[in-house]
Amino acid sequence: MKNNKKIYIETYGCQMNFSDSEIVASILKENGYEYTDDLTSAGIIFVNTCSIRENAEDRVRKRLHYFKSLRKKNPGLLIGLLGCMADRTKTALMDDEQLLDLVAGPDSYRHLPQLLEQVGTGRRAIDTILSVDETYADITPVRLDSNGVSAFISIMRGCENYCSYCVVPSTRGQERSRDAASIVRETRDLFDRGYREVTLLGQNVNSYAWKSGNDTINFSDLLRQVAAVNPLMRIRFATSHPKDISDDLLHAIADNHNLCKAIHLPVQSGSNHMLDLMNRKYTREQYQERIEAIRRIIPGCTISTDIIAGFCDEAEEDHRDTLSLMEWVGYDAAYMFKYSERPQTLAADTLKDNIPEEVKDRRLTEIINLQQKLSLANNLSDVGKTFEVLVEGRSKRSENQYFGRNSQNKVAVFTKTASGPGEYVTVRITGATSATLLGEVI
Ligand code: 5AD
Ligand code: SF4
Repeated sequence: MKNNKKIYIETYGCQMNFSDSEIVASILKENGYEYTDDLTSAGIIFVNTCSIRENAEDRVRKRLHYFKSLRKKNPGLLIGLLGCMADRTKTALMDDEQLLDLVAGPDSYRHLPQLLEQVGTGRRAIDTILSVDETYADITPVRLDSNGVSAFISIMRGCENYCSYCVVPSTRGQERSRDAASIVRETRDLFDRGYREVTLLGQNVNSYAWKSGNDTINFSDLLRQVAAVNPLMRIRFATSHPKDISDDLLHAIADNHNLCKAIHLPVQSGSNHMLDLMNRKYTREQYQERIEAIRRIIPGCTISTDIIAGFCDEAEEDHRDTLSLMEWVGYDAAYMFKYSERPQTLAADTLKDNIPEEVKDRRLTEIINLQQKLSLANNLSDVGKTFEVLVEGRSKRSENQYFGRNSQNKVAVFTKTASGPGEYVTVRITGATSATLLGEVI
């Protein structure tokens, strides 16, 4: 088993982490390892982990115990921990619980071949040092679980916003942008291989900045460059921070057909008191002004968000402010969470996680129910409209149906046509649920 160089990678957390797993697969492939999606045939299992909420970490722990149990049948099996949990949990999981052979943090993936060599030599195979300049710019990711149509491209790493609830600045380190030319090259390469949609990823893409000679390429410049690769290549991005989403960026989106008309703008809370404690650096009114700018500059653009229920000191009134802001914006979609205190964050150090669990639960349920209502109303208002939809694949529900997305990032399901995955079709919407548009190709 020692020489089984097949690696299996299980990924938790955000899109950024999925993109990182593709970088890991690429680095290891270059070094004689082979990726497998079959757990039973793997000689090495990597778990790429997330620390954002406690339950994300709990799930990983459970999985690691399961993987350890596989060693009974497969004694040479190596287990490695990657990503955001690496630094925080290495001692507990490696030394105390003996679950791991190797640990590598988000900036240490180039060292994985050496770390793998180190396993079993008596030297601890751990590297969680964060870097100030690693962007993996020169690595061409191996596309994992790919539909051959859409792909992620990492454009920056790290975060320096220090939202008080958030563990990311401590797990992923300083912000740094990737060479713009390498991003454009990767987009072109994907287009040539048949891909038709890329999502540019960073913790806060609006602070993207790359120095090229005397010029600095900002995020709007980058979007325009990537959009110019080919009009048939759709571009999405995540995530924007409301404090610095500029009119220039909105105009770039409005001016380019292939820059998708969907903006994810996490608000977190509708209460100024909470936004202040969260260190979000904008007020409810400033956020509303940005929403008005989106509506004005990009008519028909969808808006989605992230919301945290039950943050420290959140009063009933603060919660109602969140609900009223949701109504005011009329979000098309939202990711909604209960606050989970994380170690090494400003909130853990300076605030009390003082909202009882059952209150958090009730508030979250109210938020989810409202969002369900808003999503349904928005989707129903699309009935009768036609959209250009990029076909992604066969619908899970039916052999005879395809699914795809419109520019607004809504999923549409429609009867199969001659045009298949990677092609554009025009779909007239005939019905809708809160999650999906139903339509027919015209
Ligand atoms: N507790 C709950 N949700 C959190 N998020 C980030 N940190 C926490 C936390 N400690 C949410 C935010 C963020 C999304 C990626 O995860 O809404 O935008
Ligand atoms: Fe992604 Fe944040 Fe989770 Fe890290 S902690 S994987 S950056 S969501």
